[in-house]
Amino acid sequence: MRSPGREGERQSEVDWENGQPVSRRFGDVYFSQASGIDETRFVFLAQNRLAERFAQVPPGGSFVVAETGFGTGLNFLCTWELWMRTAPTSARLHFVSTELYPLARDEMARALALWSELASSCEALLSAYGPRAPGWDRRSFEGGRVVLTLLTGDVRVTLPQFQGLADAWFLDGFSPARNPQMWEPALCQRIVARSRPGCTFATYTSAGHVRRALASAGFSVEKVKGFGSKREMLRGQLEAQRSEQARTRRTNTHRTKEAIVIGGGLAGTGAASSLARRGWKVTLIERREGLATEASGNPQGVLYARMSAHPIPLSQLILAGYRYTLGVLRERLPCDGVQWSDCGILQIAFDADEAKRLDALAALDWPPDLMRSVSPVQATELAGIPLSRGGLFFPGGGWVNAPALCSALAGEPGIDLHTQRHALRLERSSTGWRVLERSDCIAESAVVIVAGASSSAAFEQLRHLPLRTVRGQVTLLPATAASERLTTVLCGESYAAPARLGMHTAGATFARDAVVEEATAADNAENLRQLNSLADSLYTALGGASLDAASLTGRAGQRCTSVDYLPLIGPVTDAAGRSLPGLYLSTAHGSRGLITAPLGGEILAAYLEDEPAPLPMSLMEALLPGRFQARAARRGGGGAGR
Ligand SMILES: Cc1cc2nc3c(=O)[nH]c(=O)nc-3n(C[C@H](O)[C@H](O)[C@H](O)COP(=O)(O)OP(=O)(O)OC[C@H]3O[C@@H](n4cnc5c(N)ncnc54)[C@H](O)[C@@H]3O)c2cc1C
Ligand SMILES: C[S@@+](CC[C@H](N)C(=O)[O-])C[C@H]1O[C@@H](n2cnc3c(N)ncnc32)[C@H](O)[C@@H]1O
Repeated sequence: MRSPGREGERQSEVDWENGQPVSRRFGDVYFSQASGIDETRFVFLAQNRLAERFAQVPPGGSFVVAETGFGTGLNFLCTWELWMRTAPTSARLHFVSTELYPLARDEMARALALWSELASSCEALLSAYGPRAPGWDRRSFEGGRVVLTLLTGDVRVTLPQFQGLADAWFLDGFSPARNPQMWEPALCQRIVARSRPGCTFATYTSAGHVRRALASAGFSVEKVKGFGSKREMLRGQLEAQRSEQARTRRTNTHRTKEAIVIGGGLAGTGAASSLARRGWKVTLIERREGLATEASGNPQGVLYARMSAHPIPLSQLILAGYRYTLGVLRERLPCDGVQWSDCGILQIAFDADEAKRLDALAALDWPPDLMRSVSPVQATELAGIPLSRGGLFFPGGGWVNAPALCSALAGEPGIDLHTQRHALRLERSSTGWRVLERSDCIAESAVVIVAGASSSAAFEQLRHLPLRTVRGQVTLLPATAASERLTTVLCGESYAAPARLGMHTAGATFARDAVVEEATAADNAENLRQLNSLADSLYTALGGASLDAASLTGRAGQRCTSVDYLPLIGPVTDAAGRSLPGLYLSTAHGSRGLITAPLGGEILAAYLEDEPAPLPMSLMEALLPGRFQARAARRGGGGAGR
C-alpha cells in the first residue's frame, strides 16, 4: 500500500475577509458582504416569487428549485426556511444544486454561523453534509418535506445528466467575468431544457452576454433593480411554448398515489418508504410471517463500499448508495450498537491484487473523511486487534441490523403491511393491476412494484429477466473478552463485525444457484477458514481451532444478482421490450442491498412522481430492467435469455 496520512492536504477554497467567505480560486464573494441573507431573499427568493408560488403548491405536490453553485448552502437554507413557512405540510421541496469545489464542513459551518436565525436547519445540513467527494448525494430533511440533491462536479457535466425539471433557477456561479464557464450560452440552453413551462430564474448579474444567452435560450428576460447598491440584476420566465418539456411532457405521474409493493426485504421496504414519504398509500405484501426474514434478515450486514478506481456505473452507484443509506440511518435509526454502528470499515489489502486495487482507488485523492489509506500499524490501531496488513479505512461506514432498517423503512405512516400473503399472479385490470394469491385478489392498484428478489421472475410478466441466485451464509460467533477489542468492521474476501449483543457476524459464503435454505456446518467451516485468513488474531481471539463449525449458529439466504451485477430498478418492459404501464421493479441487489436498496426507493419515486432523479441519467438508464432486451436488440438478437 502507498504511504498513508493525506489528511489536511486538501486545498481550502475559502479566504476570510472581515469574517465573510471569499473564493480563493475565483477571487469573488460567496454572497454580498453587505448582508448575504438579505441578498438571497431579495435576489433569489423574491425575484422568483417563491413565497407566493410555494403557497400555491397543492397538498401532496412538489416544487423543484435548481441552482448553479451550492457554495455555503445559504440559498438552500433560506429556501428551506421559506418552504416551511409557506408551503402545505404534505408538499415537498426538491432543491437540486451543483458544485465543483465543495467547501469543507468546517468552512461551511463558519460561513453559515453568520446567520443565527438559520441555526437549526444549518445544524441539520452540517450533520448530513457528506465528505467532499465527486458524485451525487441525496439527503432528506424535515421528515422528507425538504429533499436536497447535491451534484458534485462541473455544472457542464452534471447538468446534461440531470433527469428532472425545475420550477425555478438560482443562477449563482460567481461573476461572469471571473467564471465564464458558468454562464456559457450552451449552459443556458441546458437550463431551458431542464425547466418546466412557466419556470423562472433569477441572478444577481446583469451582464449583457448573460442576458442575451438566457433570452436566446427561451427565457423572457427582465432587468430589475439589484440588491443594495447594485443597480441591476436579471430575472425571467420561460415562455411555455419554448419549453422542451411542453412538447415532451411525461405521462407517468399517477394521480391516485396508491401502490402495491411485493416483498418485505430491503428493496420492498425501501420502495414503500420513499413512496409513503411522498404521501402514497402503500400496500406492502410479504409471503412470510414478518419483514426481513430472507436475505435481509442478517443481524449485522456491512456497508461494504467496494468500488473500482474506474468511474464505472457500479462504482458510481455504490458511492451514491453508500452515502444515501448512511443519511437514512443517521436520520431514522439510533446508532446504538444494536440497530447499527458507525464504527468504520477497514478494507484490508489481503493480497497483491487487492493492494493494487486499493492503491488505485486511494490515488483518486478522496477526502479522508470518506476513505483513506492506512498502514498495518494504523490498521491495528483502528481495529483494536493486531493486523498484519493495511488497506483503506472508511470512517463513516459500519454495520447495520438489516431487520431494524427494514422495520424503520416500513414504519412510515401510509404503509399497510400484509404478511403471510403470497402474491402468485399479476393480472391486468381496468384500473391497473390485480395481485392474486390463487383466485384470491390481495390488492388492486395502478402501480405495482415487485421487490421479491429472485422470486420476482416467478411472475409471468417478469420471466424473461436474467436473474441469478447466489446462496450465502453468515456465521455467528460468541464474543470473548479478547474479541470484544475489535472496534471496526474488517472486510476483504469475507467480513467480520465487532460484537453486537455478545455475538460477532462473520461471512459470507457464495454458492451460485444453490438453494439450501438451512444453514450448514460446511459453510460455517468455510466462514471460519475465511476469518482466519482475513484476521488470524481475531480468529484466535474467538477460539481458533477449538471452534466447532457444527455447533455454531449460521444464517443462510439467497442473494439475487443480474448478469451485469447492477440491480434492476425502474419501469418494467415485457420480453419484447414493450412497456407494461404501472409495473416497476427493484431487485438484484446482490451482496450490497444495504447500499443500493434504500436508494432504489428514491429512484422509483423519481419515476412515479416525475421528480428529480437521485442519480445521473446515464446511471438511471444503466439500471433499467429492460436494458438486457435493449442490448440484445442492438446486437440484432432476440430476447435476453437467462
Ligand atoms: C449471507 C448473506 C450476507 C449478506 N451480507 C451483506 C452485507 O454485509 N451487506 C450488504 O449490503 N448486503 C449483504 N447481503 C445482501 C443483502 O442481504 C441483499 O442484497 C438484500 O437483502 C436484498 O434485499 P431484497 O429485498 O431484494 O431481498 P430479500 O431480503 O430476499 O426480500 C425479498 C422478500 O420478498 C418476499 N417475496 C418474494 N416473492 C414474494 C411473493 N411472490 N409474494 C410475497 N412476498 C414475496 C420474500 O419473502 C422476501 O421477504 C448479504 C446476503 C446474504 C445472503
Ligand atoms: C457565488 S458561489 C454560490 C453561493 C451559494 N449559492 C451559497 O448559497 O452560498 C458560486 C459557486 O459556484 C461554484 N462553481 C464555480 N464553477 C463551477 C462549475 N464549473 N461547476 C459547478 N460549480 C461551480 C463555486 O465553487 C461556488 O461555490
